[in-house]
Amino acid sequence: MKNPNFNLLRNRILNKEARISIVGLGYVGLPYAMEFARNGFRVTGIDSNEKKVEALRSGESYIMDIGHEELREINGSGAISYTSSYDGIDDADVIDICVPTPLGKSRDPDLFFITSAVRSIKAKIRKPKLLVLTSTTYPGTTREYVAATVSDSGFVIDRDFFVAFSPERIDPANRIYKLANIPKVVGGVTELSGDLAILLFRQIVKDVIRVSSSDTAEMVKLLENTFRSINIGLVNEMAIICNKLGIDVWEVIDAAKTKPYGYVPFYPGPGIGGHCIPIDPVYLTWRMKVFNYRARFIELATDINNEMPYYVVNRLAEILNNDVKSIKDSRIFIVGVAYKKDVNDSRESSAITVIEEILRRGGRVLYNDPYIAAINENGLHIKSTKLSRKALASSDCTLILTDHAVYSYEWIVRHSRRVFDTKNATKNIKSGKIVRL
Ligand SMILES: NC(=O)c1ccc[n+]([C@@H]2O[C@H](COP(=O)([O-])OP(=O)(O)OC[C@H]3O[C@@H](n4cnc5c(N)ncnc54)[C@H](O)[C@@H]3O)[C@@H](O)[C@H]2O)c1
Repeated sequence: MKNPNFNLLRNRILNKEARISIVGLGYVGLPYAMEFARNGFRVTGIDSNEKKVEALRSGESYIMDIGHEELREINGSGAISYTSSYDGIDDADVIDICVPTPLGKSRDPDLFFITSAVRSIKAKIRKPKLLVLTSTTYPGTTREYVAATVSDSGFVIDRDFFVAFSPERIDPANRIYKLANIPKVVGGVTELSGDLAILLFRQIVKDVIRVSSSDTAEMVKLLENTFRSINIGLVNEMAIICNKLGIDVWEVIDAAKTKPYGYVPFYPGPGIGGHCIPIDPVYLTWRMKVFNYRARFIELATDINNEMPYYVVNRLAEILNNDVKSIKDSRIFIVGVAYKKDVNDSRESSAITVIEEILRRGGRVLYNDPYIAAINENGLHIKSTKLSRKALASSDCTLILTDHAVYSYEWIVRHSRRVFDTKNATKNIKSGKIVRL
C-alpha cells in the first residue's frame, strides 16, 4: 500500500485523466505538450511570452520541426490550450518545467527562469501534484531547489507532492529520432516520485530508463553534452593540427570512421552553438567550483571551441592575404548563421562571433540564412541578404558557416570569387576557389 495521493495520481496517469501543464513552450516544451495531447491527455501549455501563446492559439508554429498543419490538428482536437497565466495551474496533476537555463553575463548558470516558474507554481498549489523538471541544469537542482522550495510552503514530499528530473534529448532537425523514439531517462527525488514519473513518460515514450535519483538523471544529461563538447573540442584541435601539417582533416575523419568499433565521428566547425553544447558543460564546471575542483578537461574543450570563431577569422585573413587582400575593406558573404544545419535557431551561434570579429577588423559582412531573417544580438543588427549571383560575385570571399541542405553549393562556388568552407559542405565539388577548414 503506497499512499492515497500517490494512488490518485497513479490512477489518473494510467487512465489518461491526469491534466498536464507544460511550462515553457519552446523547442523542448511544445513537442511535449503536443505529444501528451496526441496521446489522450488534457494539456495546458503555459508560456510567459504572450506572442508565442497567441501564435500557438492561431495555429502558427514557430518551431521548424512542428508544421502549422500538425499544430492545427492538435488544436482542433480540443485536447490542448495555451495561456501565459498561471491562474489555472492548480488544475494540473502533472507539471513539467521546460524553461531556459542560460548562462548569465559572467558566464555562470542563470537559474532565473526555473526559480520564477517554481515560485509561480508554488503560489498556486492546493492539491497533490507530480512536478517534473526537464530544463538542463547542474546535479542537485531538482532536489535542493525545486523540492526544497515546494517543501518550504509546508507541503510534504511523497505525501502532498512528488518531484523528478527527466532530461530532454531532442535533436532539432533530426528526422529519425524524435520525442517518442528517443529513450527517456528519469530519476525521482524520492522512490515514489520516480515511480510516478516513469509511469507518466511511459505513456508517450517507447523506452523509459530509470536511474536511482534526480541528481543522477541531471548528471546523465551533462555527461552526454559534455561528451559532445569534448569530442568537438578534440576534432577542432585536429583541424588546427591537420592544417599545420597540410592534411585534409575531413578526409582523415572519413577514413577513421570506417573503424567498426571504438571510434565515433565528430566534425570540426567554426565553433559550437545552440542552447545546449556551449552551456551545459559550464553548469558542471561551475558546480565543481563549490567542491574546489577544476574540471580541466571540460574547460580545455570549452576554450578550444570558444577560440574556433577567431581561428576561422585568422584563416580567412590568411586566405585573403594569399589573394593580396586584407580583411579590412573586404566584403565577406556569409552563408548560414544558424547554430547548426537546417534549424532556425541562432542562439549562441558562433557565426555571431565570426561576424563581430570580421567587423572589428574593418571588414564588411553580408549574410544569407533562409531560416534566420535577422540577427539582433550584443548590439549587432544585421539582416539576411538575398543569395544572388551579384552578391557573391561582388564579395571577396564566401564564408560557409552553416551547411543548410537547401543550398546548392555547386551554384554558390560557381558564382563566388573565393570560398572558405568551414563545414565541408562543398565536399563533392572540385574547384581551385575552395579552401576548407
Ligand atoms: N533546444 C534544445 O535542443 C534542447 C535540447 C535538450 C534540452 N534542452 C534544455 O531544455 C530547456 C528549454 O530549452 P528550449 O530550447 O526549449 O528553450 P526555449 O527558449 O526554446 O523555450 C523556453 C520557453 O520558456 C518560456 N519561459 C521562460 N520563463 C518562463 C516562465 N517563468 N513561465 C513560463 N514560460 C517561461 C520562454 O518564453 C520560452 O518560450 C533548457 O534547459 C535547455 O537547455 C534544450
